[in-house]
Amino acid sequence: MTSTLSTAALRKSLQVAASKSASAASRPIGALSSCFVANRNFSSSASPASTFDTIGVVGLGLMGHGICQVAAASGVHSSVVAFEPEQKYLDSGRARIEGSVNKLLSRKKISQEQADATLGSITYTTDPSDLSNTDFVVEAVIENMDLKKDLYGSLGSVCKPETIFASNTSSLSITEMAEISGRPDRFVGVHFFNPVQIMKLVEVIKTEHTDQAVFDAAYNWVGDIGKVAVTCRDTPGFIVNRLLIPSLMQAILMLERGDASCKDIDISMQLGAGHPMGPLTLADYVGLDTCYFIIEGWCTKFPDEPAFELPAILKAKVDAGDLGRKTGKGFYHWDGDKRGDPVE
Ligand code: 3HC
Repeated sequence: MTSTLSTAALRKSLQVAASKSASAASRPIGALSSCFVANRNFSSSASPASTFDTIGVVGLGLMGHGICQVAAASGVHSSVVAFEPEQKYLDSGRARIEGSVNKLLSRKKISQEQADATLGSITYTTDPSDLSNTDFVVEAVIENMDLKKDLYGSLGSVCKPETIFASNTSSLSITEMAEISGRPDRFVGVHFFNPVQIMKLVEVIKTEHTDQAVFDAAYNWVGDIGKVAVTCRDTPGFIVNRLLIPSLMQAILMLERGDASCKDIDISMQLGAGHPMGPLTLADYVGLDTCYFIIEGWCTKFPDEPAFELPAILKAKVDAGDLGRKTGKGFYHWDGDKRGDPVE
């Protein structure tokens, strides 16, 4: 899922921070348990502490802002550091979090005290050295392997050696990122679902390099923040996207062939299969660029896998900039979160 993080800005800010925090990076590698000491000063005294005292979230786009919010709302961290390299993207991530918290408040899903505690526990920063002392960093930047490799190469010298890295990638190899990070034993995947505030599932991925204690800590953290963890091998799309994305592509191919209308395909899967959204609405909701990126990457990397097929109309829409809900037009017209008529 996308973040607004740009490669150049990210690289520049991480290089500066890496030189600043050379002393932190050269500290001897301590026992894993040293980062599990919870020293909470957060007001929600009723909540248990997490194995991770402070966490960082890199990228405050569609997924990152939700992860940040959910972690902060859980009340199990003394601090959540929210990082974007550019102020304007930090500001838009912050506005998203505040908007979502206010929505929950206005619907009486949370109290004023909970809203204040959530917002008060997040530190917003464009300075990567603020991540140096975090115990767990979740990365939710754009799905570009070169950018992610760049990020992990630099983040490794910014954060203390004990920090565990977790990627929220939806389709890229966790192993490839872990190998570039310089700490493959302290690297996992944590894949959230959109909207993060509402969807309960998180897939936790262990590679062949991941230390079992690191995996266990990440898996338990998912429960700490109120989500449900499942796990699988580092396989393309993990569990959900491996099943979901090909089925969305089949719906798009069905439309492309003229087998059925956009609305009828969606109504069918809602009323005939009990899905909360039809597949074409869901593709718009996720973002057609994200869907395209995932399936295009798989078609290139796994040309012999028959389940991976790229519909021409998906490419045409992405080329035209019709990315679904976020641009106001995809398979449907959108007015903010409100879906309109199908695009003719
Ligand atoms: N912040 C706070 N509250 C939010 C919110 C947000 N970001 N988004 C939704 N809500 C709240 C709404 O305000 C509403 O609250 P209410 O019950 O008090 O009115 C409640 O959540 C339900 O939302 P809606 O009334 O708008 O609509 P629905 O009941 O239809 O639920 C939905 C919306 C939860 C999105 C549901 O349609 C759904 O489950 N859709 C499928 C989503 C899905 O499949 N996600 C996975 C996508 S795949 C993915 O993310 C992986 C990636 O790697 C591609």
